[in-house]
Amino acid sequence: MKRVAILISGGGSNMVALVRAMTGDFPARPVLVLSNVPGAGGLARAEALGVPTATVDHRGRTREEFEADLIATLDAATPDIIALAGFMRILTRAFIRRYQGRMLNIHPSLLPKYPGLHTHARALAAGDAQGGCTVHEVTADLDMGPILGQMPVPILPGDTEDTLAARVLVQEHILYPATLRAFAQR
Ligand code: GRF
Repeated sequence: MKRVAILISGGGSNMVALVRAMTGDFPARPVLVLSNVPGAGGLARAEALGVPTATVDHRGRTREEFEADLIATLDAATPDIIALAGFMRILTRAFIRRYQGRMLNIHPSLLPKYPGLHTHARALAAGDAQGGCTVHEVTADLDMGPILGQMPVPILPGDTEDTLAARVLVQEHILYPATLRAFAQR
């Protein structure tokens, strides 16, 4: 049974989907939900689901200080897998090297299209027929690690960034648990 730590920065809807999926014959269980933002909405949702939580505040600290604290807090939970879920901090190469091969992320585009931010706005501006989401392994090359799963989502006439984001998010909540299940069984 693999131990999964989930890193969040905000509402944590992907974290909730992952935690809710990790029951019964699912080959993994959540052991920690960690936020870099004190009071992030996802922390209360994790506690309501009975998952231990922690906060490692990045504000007022160097990247190295923040990550040293992050590593100490993460390793205290002895995770086998780290799942980034709406985690909005860029991680250094040293941090990534420490967990590479067992750290996943969900990104709201069909990578390799649109790494980085504002993915839905960019797909709309390009006139794409579809958007989507991708679960990938985290490597030093931002949003460009090996792809583990993808889900295309149609772009409809009149779509805005918000309507497309909402449609993609529904699929993220299906894709991430399915991809984590397969990854945990490898
Ligand atoms: C989602 O679009 C996800 O793809 C991105 O962060 C957004 C919010 O995720 N990584 P959540 O609701 O905090 O899980």
